[in-house]
Amino acid sequence: MNQPLRTNTFKEYLVAQKKIIDAALDRLLPGDGDCPRSLARAMRYSTMAGGKRLRPILCLAACRTVGGEETDALSTACALEMIHTYSLIHDDLPAMDDDDLRRGHPTLHRVFPEGTAILAGDGLLTLAFEVIAGDRALNDLQARLIMLELSGGAGYSGMVGGQQADLDGEGQDISPEALEYIHAHKTGALLTASVICGAIAGDGNQEDIGLLRRYGRGIGLAFQIKDDLLDIEGESEKLGKTIGQDAKSGKSTYPSIWGIEASREKLDQAIASSLEALKAWGEEADPLRRIARYIGTREK
Ligand code: IPE
Ligand code: IPE
Ligand code: MG
Ligand code: MG
Ligand code: MG
Repeated sequence: MNQPLRTNTFKEYLVAQKKIIDAALDRLLPGDGDCPRSLARAMRYSTMAGGKRLRPILCLAACRTVGGEETDALSTACALEMIHTYSLIHDDLPAMDDDDLRRGHPTLHRVFPEGTAILAGDGLLTLAFEVIAGDRALNDLQARLIMLELSGGAGYSGMVGGQQADLDGEGQDISPEALEYIHAHKTGALLTASVICGAIAGDGNQEDIGLLRRYGRGIGLAFQIKDDLLDIEGESEKLGKTIGQDAKSGKSTYPSIWGIEASREKLDQAIASSLEALKAWGEEADPLRRIARYIGTREK
């Protein structure tokens, strides 16, 4: 049974969803006896270090919105978190953003050899597809469509493409269009895929998927604009990562190109367009609505 939202505050809902997702991740990740212990421990270190679990929570909420049972989307939700965690491990490497703090802990390559950090990321990316291919809650068509959505959102036409454009843009003056490409791809694409994969697991129809894609694009852009703002105005203890990193590495961000006020306006516009896309739904879409608003106000 889907957890009712009305009887809970939104904060309690997030905590409860996170608990369900963390327990499922713990079941799916390798243990010491499944592969070299260093690899299993490294994969677990980063995945179980915390994190908001926003992508899996979105996946479950989208499944509910189209009338599905959230339990049918649970393994898919975990696969999304595995891909996200791999992206964070690689994003933090010295060859990329060279960060020391993630999810309130030293980054993986600070605790394990750099080679192990690279391989832990590779292991998580691969495991995500294994989990979906082996998921008995999905029929063959759902599994195939989810893998297609996920590879598009995570790969060269999605997150990996955005990460490359982000690296190419370091220290450069880039256009607002180029920055929007970076944000929509490095961050927006996996967030959108999270929503769409949940809708597929819940057997949503084409119309549902079209509207939810609009929702996903809006929150995806909003999420990265907020990430840029938090890198300037956030608190490291709350965020669990070091602030000021974007300016230090010469990244173009929404605030660096548009200024803080205009960035806040663009953030609000992106969230409004997400909410607009949900208009046809009733209370079954309330979790997605609350998540959209939360993205604009979050402090971590
Ligand atoms: C951080 O993502 C990386 C970006 C895409 C901006 P989150 O802010 O969702 O990180 P966790 O999962 O909560 O640690
Ligand atoms: C990260 O963007 C996007 C990813 C695919 C991980 P950032 O580099 O801005 O994310 P943080 O600020 O390190 O979390
Ligand atoms: Mg980065
Ligand atoms: Mg980074
Ligand atoms: Mg950032």
